[in-house]
Amino acid sequence: MQGSFRKNEMTSRFENKHVVVTGGARGIGRCISEAFLREGAAITIIDLDKQAGEQLQRAATSEKLRFYHGDIAEKDVLERFVKSLGSPVNCLVNNACLNRCGLLSACSYDDFEYVQRVGVTAPYYLTSLLLRTRLLSPDAAIVNIASTRAWQSQPNTESYSAAKGGIIALTHAMAISLAGKARVNSISPGWIEIAAWQESRAKDWADLEHSEQDKRQHPAGRVGKPEDIAEMALYLCSDKAGFITGENIIVDGGMSRLMVYHNDYGWALEKQETGMCARAL
Ligand SMILES: NC(=O)c1ccc[n+]([C@@H]2O[C@H](COP(=O)([O-])OP(=O)(O)OC[C@H]3O[C@@H](n4cnc5c(N)ncnc54)[C@H](O)[C@@H]3O)[C@@H](O)[C@H]2O)c1
Repeated sequence: MQGSFRKNEMTSRFENKHVVVTGGARGIGRCISEAFLREGAAITIIDLDKQAGEQLQRAATSEKLRFYHGDIAEKDVLERFVKSLGSPVNCLVNNACLNRCGLLSACSYDDFEYVQRVGVTAPYYLTSLLLRTRLLSPDAAIVNIASTRAWQSQPNTESYSAAKGGIIALTHAMAISLAGKARVNSISPGWIEIAAWQESRAKDWADLEHSEQDKRQHPAGRVGKPEDIAEMALYLCSDKAGFITGENIIVDGGMSRLMVYHNDYGWALEKQETGMCARAL
């Protein structure tokens, strides 16, 4: 295997483990899939984006990465997908989600509901199907990808924020129902740079351009990388996290801990925008 798929012979923490990642063809999901593959796991990805999924499968050149094309908002797709899984699942990463904005752009009933189906219903139903078909391995780990937008909002983000609030609550509910069977945790990313990461896979992170302000507003001094989330997913799925369940871990460079008041510590409110559809995620 080449480049970012090369196996980590030193650790191989997930050898003989089967990991399912939703939305694993692009972005954070792809980075998580690559990280588990490097650690020796067999990966099954389900994603809507056929082209990206097939391209990923070719690039991985490994039988350990399998791509299944489908929309996780569809009940029968999830049922067919689970039937297609050849072996029990040790780790499930519910990563796929999307934003269809909200009140200020007249997000429709169908749009709002679709986001909830992808972001909340699919993680629930996939877990339920694995449980009922006995494909959820004993001592499994489930990681749900939430967002700091579960707690903080920009205008016009209702569909997305509701899904993220939902998946946080789903996480602790499933952790209690699955006690003794699976640990269930969520990760709430802040701003994670996806576009630049995908376009510049060969480049160093240092080459990616963010303004000084974008970096300095984060207490950690930089914007997030997909690897920041992948590392946390590996940890939460590992035995080292055996005493952690029902928990949400915020990975946002400290951004949501920062208190902002006009004219304090260099912050100034210049213009208040409403009505625009916020940055994708
Ligand atoms: N990037 C960020 O700054 C950020 C911040 C907070 C949370 N998140 C969360 O991280 C996760 C991944 O985000 P990303 O930035 O990598 O997004 P992305 O849009 O780059 O990737 C999402 C992937 O999910 C797939 N997908 C979307 N809807 C699907 C569906 N109905 N069925 C199957 N596959 C579907 C897409 O095809 C894509 O491959 C999401 O849950 C997102 O809400 C991202």
